[in-house]
Amino acid sequence: MNHNVRAWQIWAIISSQAKFTKRRVVDLGFGHGDLLACAAGVEATVTGIDRDQDLCRAAAERLQVLGGGFIIHDAIEHWVRHPWNEFFQFDIGICTSVLPYLEDDSIILEWMSRCCDVSFLEVQLSGDGPGIMTYSQLKEYLESYFTVAQDVGHTVARKEREYVRTIWKCL
Ligand SMILES: C[S@@+](CC[C@H](N)C(=O)[O-])C[C@H]1O[C@@H](n2cnc3c(N)ncnc32)[C@H](O)[C@@H]1O
Repeated sequence: MNHNVRAWQIWAIISSQAKFTKRRVVDLGFGHGDLLACAAGVEATVTGIDRDQDLCRAAAERLQVLGGGFIIHDAIEHWVRHPWNEFFQFDIGICTSVLPYLEDDSIILEWMSRCCDVSFLEVQLSGDGPGIMTYSQLKEYLESYFTVAQDVGHTVARKEREYVRTIWKCL
């Protein structure tokens, strides 16, 4: 998997929407961990969960240089089911370009809505890789888990054509 070249755009959007310094941040399916690194760089306490062992190893090494963090090698669906996770509370949850890869994303959204004060989500739409929903279907879907799903900006992913990916701020 390549580095997400849009990570800096995502960071510009989400860091203008929430204060990350000294906050507890969790990134579900962090990939190369660029957003974890950005958050750790402003002194957030970061936790990342990803099922790819090599990505976990690389992110853990990267975070060491930035003052540490918690990297968990697990499937998100499995991790959120741990009974002790009920008692975790994060200030900020992040999940970008991951949901359409999951067989059932409901447990993740339900957990984020309960255990994260604010969640930032980016989800591929129909026609963009694994995405299956239109913009309005996705908004309605997110609002079935969160009180508010607000479009706070977008990035542009380029493949054979351009795909706009909205960043949703969910409360
Ligand atoms: C397309 S990448 C997105 C990475 C990152 N969030 C970003 O926006 O650049 C999807 C990531 O989700 C991880 N992933 C997919 N399904 C997962 C699951 N069930 N549990 C944990 N990680 C998962 C993959 O290993 C990969 O790192």
